[in-house]
Amino acid sequence: MRIVLGSDHAGWSQKDRLVSYLALNGYEVVDVGPENETESVDYPDYALKACDAVLTGQVDRAILICGTGIGMAITANKLPRIRAANVTIPAFGALCREHNDANVLTLSGRFIDYDTNVAIVDAYLSAEFEGERHQKRLDKIAELE
Ligand code: RB5
Repeated sequence: MRIVLGSDHAGWSQKDRLVSYLALNGYEVVDVGPENETESVDYPDYALKACDAVLTGQVDRAILICGTGIGMAITANKLPRIRAANVTIPAFGALCREHNDANVLTLSGRFIDYDTNVAIVDAYLSAEFEGERHQKRLDKIAELE
């Protein structure tokens, strides 16, 4: 599976660790930046770069990290065909795949510790969309786009 990661300065440290973690676990990883956390950057710029990689088929999923994950989710969900979930507990990492077919996961780099975010990412990447009644609901969301 191919995964793109992006962050702002507040999410950079956890992004850096997750890039290595995912590569070590056999995923093909694309890092859209930033390259360091030394300067303040704007999370929409990195959300758009990562979502573009999803929408063009370059990657299968995106993981975006800012201070809360909220700004990344708000930005990503502006884009048609993006379903971004801001997740803070591992159970929701699985549920956002199973019920919502989330193709973007957003995480908090400031309020959720790294080990919890790893558990969320593991749950997210190992769960599959269940389709059926959930597909009907996603179709209704798509009609709004
Ligand atoms: C940056 O200070 C912070 O606002 C950003 O990382 C994010 O939490 C916004 O949603």
